[in-house]
Amino acid sequence: MDSLLQLKAEATKEVEASKDLDALEQVRVAYLGKKGAIQEKMKGLGQMDPEERKSYGSELNQLKNQVTELIEKSKKALEKAALDARLASESLDVTLPARQKEEGSVHPVSQVIEECTEILANQGFEVVYGPQIEDDFHNFTALNIPPEHPARQMHDTFYFPEDEKGERSVLRTHTSSVQIRYMENNKPPYRVIAPGRTYRCDSDITHSPMFHQIEGLYIDKNITMAHLKGCLINFVQQFFGVDEVPVRFRPSFFPFTEPSAEMDIGCSRAQGDFKIGGDDWMEILGCGMVHPNVLKNVGVDPDEYQGFAFGIGIERLAMLKYGIADLRTFYEADIRWLEHYNFAPLDIPTLTGGLSR
Ligand code: PHE
Repeated sequence: MDSLLQLKAEATKEVEASKDLDALEQVRVAYLGKKGAIQEKMKGLGQMDPEERKSYGSELNQLKNQVTELIEKSKKALEKAALDARLASESLDVTLPARQKEEGSVHPVSQVIEECTEILANQGFEVVYGPQIEDDFHNFTALNIPPEHPARQMHDTFYFPEDEKGERSVLRTHTSSVQIRYMENNKPPYRVIAPGRTYRCDSDITHSPMFHQIEGLYIDKNITMAHLKGCLINFVQQFFGVDEVPVRFRPSFFPFTEPSAEMDIGCSRAQGDFKIGGDDWMEILGCGMVHPNVLKNVGVDPDEYQGFAFGIGIERLAMLKYGIADLRTFYEADIRWLEHYNFAPLDIPTLTGGLSR
């Protein structure tokens, strides 16, 4: 009997000393487990005479129930304490002011590419891409600019070192190379635009060594200069959002178009910032009817197919539309400048793939 009382006192003390559920479980095993102290005593019952067994057995059972109950109670208390501690540590202070969200904005160049793409896609043009590192053939020769042609000088080309075949890759000087790649790989008719980066070794207030163009190409059986003018006039009206955009087509020369023209927008440069309307002119694109030699170079019969091409200068459009006076600001990565224009992303996904390009 005494030993049972002592066992109970010990078990109680150990339960009370258990500070967490693991410790409590160890106590349970030590007393109630298969090899626990109480179970061991149960095993001794077999050797007792019936009278003794009865009373000792019932004491033992009582002790077992008491210890079980003690452990259960302590377990509940420990579980509650653990939950309380979690609730206290994980609580939210809903009165704290919200953390400010840093939100980026779209660069004016990306914005204008998206705007142009949307307008031209509505005219049925599909968006295509080509590589920025080009070979001589796609950037020049196929565009009717053979080696030694003086037009090559106009391009201020960045050349790569010669490869083992003695050929030099270039950073494409215009997106017109994409015309060639597209026509090589597809059958006419063609109606595509190709936005992207272009490079020329030139840097001053109106020239940057890297700039952006959107190439356009429309070839079918009876596409004329009238379609070219209609397409581009419609484009600038939509782009600037006014019906009366002052435009001028000025005769020009490109080896890959004949006849060729440049399109100017009437503008004013008062106080150093651009806006449309005024007695000054700003060139925004080159265009013309695709030269028969170019079609021949990609295996298209110029007696059957004809059409136009154009190459728009993106930065120039952006300067005119958003009144940006200095081209160099586009590339200074000044966050205050970006915040000033604060363009929100257009609906994603966009036709040019949104912000990923
Ligand atoms: N590739 C010419 C340039 O960069 C522009 C152009 C494109 C002209 C297509 C005519 C036709 O200056």
